[in-house]
Amino acid sequence: MIRRSEEMSKPTVHATAPLASCSDLPRVQTTEIVDDLADRGFTIRRGLFDEDYLRALTAEARDAWPDGEFGQAGISRGVDLGTEIRAGHVLCLDPAAPTALQRRYLDFIGDIRHQLARELFLPLHGFEARFAIYPAGACYARHLDQFQQQPHRLVSCLLYLNEDWQGHDGGELCIFEPPDEDGEENEILVLPEFGTFVAFLSDRIEHEVRPTHRERLSLAGWLRRE
Ligand code: OGA
Ligand code: MN
Repeated sequence: MIRRSEEMSKPTVHATAPLASCSDLPRVQTTEIVDDLADRGFTIRRGLFDEDYLRALTAEARDAWPDGEFGQAGISRGVDLGTEIRAGHVLCLDPAAPTALQRRYLDFIGDIRHQLARELFLPLHGFEARFAIYPAGACYARHLDQFQQQPHRLVSCLLYLNEDWQGHDGGELCIFEPPDEDGEENEILVLPEFGTFVAFLSDRIEHEVRPTHRERLSLAGWLRRE
């Protein structure tokens, strides 16, 4: 699915976080993640992080949210994709000063990045990340994360931070698997359940967020090319 090298282009939009190595996750997990990305273009993982960690990260994000903005409905992400996008507010991680909890997640991403560089020669440089709130009623129309205004995004990473998410809460991430030889396109639905981690190739995997019926919190990030 991935070519063994990629040509790069265009300027940076966001500041990028330096990536460290060594997380406390078993190496085998990042190997499997990278194998999935190479074979299918995406990976879906549960149980990577313990619940205490996820709870602390969630609480920290909620506390850091600017007063009065959290949970308030908002429109658009400042980028016109030619279709209506309704999303909530975002809170960018400060790449220069991640908290200890954020650092642990960035270390995990750093391990994936090293594995991707080693196995697939992806020239990844930094990681831009932000918490995103979708208020009830919000959705995000089908799109690619790498497009003209965002040519540096190579791998999209999502961590969902919603405790006790139920099927009827909606808000599924729908991954459109690229068509097979028969031209069949598979849709894979992922509930934004507490601790579910999803990564996919930003230039290949179209996806959308189905309408959520409950406030929905995620940590979205992109590994960027040099
Ligand atoms: C995005 C995105 C998906 C999600 O931020 O580009 O597609 O499940 N998010 O939050
Ligand atoms: Mn996206």
